[in-house]
Amino acid sequence: MALGPTPTALAEAVATRDAAGGAVPAHVAIIMDGNGRWAVRRGLPRVAGHRAGVEAVRRTVRAATSAGVSWLTIYAFSSENWRRPLAEVLDLTGLLRHFLRAEIKELHSQGVRVRFIGDRSRFDPDIQTEMATSEARTAGNTRLNLIIALSYGGRAEIVAAARAAAEAALAGTLDPAEMTEESFARLLSTDGIPDPDLIIRTSGEQRLSNFLLWQSAYAELVFTDVLWPDFGARELADAIDCYTRRERRFGARPG
Ligand code: IPE
Ligand code: IPE
Ligand code: MG
Repeated sequence: MALGPTPTALAEAVATRDAAGGAVPAHVAIIMDGNGRWAVRRGLPRVAGHRAGVEAVRRTVRAATSAGVSWLTIYAFSSENWRRPLAEVLDLTGLLRHFLRAEIKELHSQGVRVRFIGDRSRFDPDIQTEMATSEARTAGNTRLNLIIALSYGGRAEIVAAARAAAEAALAGTLDPAEMTEESFARLLSTDGIPDPDLIIRTSGEQRLSNFLLWQSAYAELVFTDVLWPDFGARELADAIDCYTRRERRFGARPG
């Protein structure tokens, strides 16, 4: 591994840039892409890229906390990723199992509250149990809210919300005429979580791939060619820098 600046120096670099740059995004969401290409470029099996990706998650959580970010959502596995070859799906779920068993303790000690969004019923029961345990264990933490999107798809999430609304209307507990954007958003898995201010996608691809479709309505998008396993404090600081130079209008005309 290349020797770089110490974690403290990197955290300071983030803090300095923020001080100079302006408002830190309260909610940063990341599409962590490029693990496979990172591995292939090194002549390694794809799973080595996924393993290195877990290291990048560790670095990024620390960097986000130091940067003053309150909410960090990471897209770890999409509802479409189940269509990958079984061997890769097994590698990924195996890594997830290991992550839940080995990393939550550390995240807890850092004051991180962990939550999961996505269809967790598709994972093995032991993984579902670890997810519930991790959420319960870290529920009182306030330093950073980490939301991990697993078996997550934006369209599936919106359909589930629409179904819940239709069922409530049929049961007579919801008047369709009363439905608002706010009340509909409460039916999504992100209820209580502010919309992302900044969405970062690594690996040079410029698409959302079914990530936070409803919630991304006014998010600023930053794309970087860096592959996810190479992402860290410096790259997060660069993306935040880019964000602070954007003018957010939310459809209004500056007067
Ligand atoms: C992102 O890396 C991780 C997941 C989607 C699970 P990829 O596995 O998509 O890596 P590339 O895009 O093939 O390089
Ligand atoms: C998006 O990456 C999903 C995650 C990062 C978890 P993909 O690699 O699955 O997306 P596509 O297939 O390139 O759109
Ligand atoms: Mg990919």
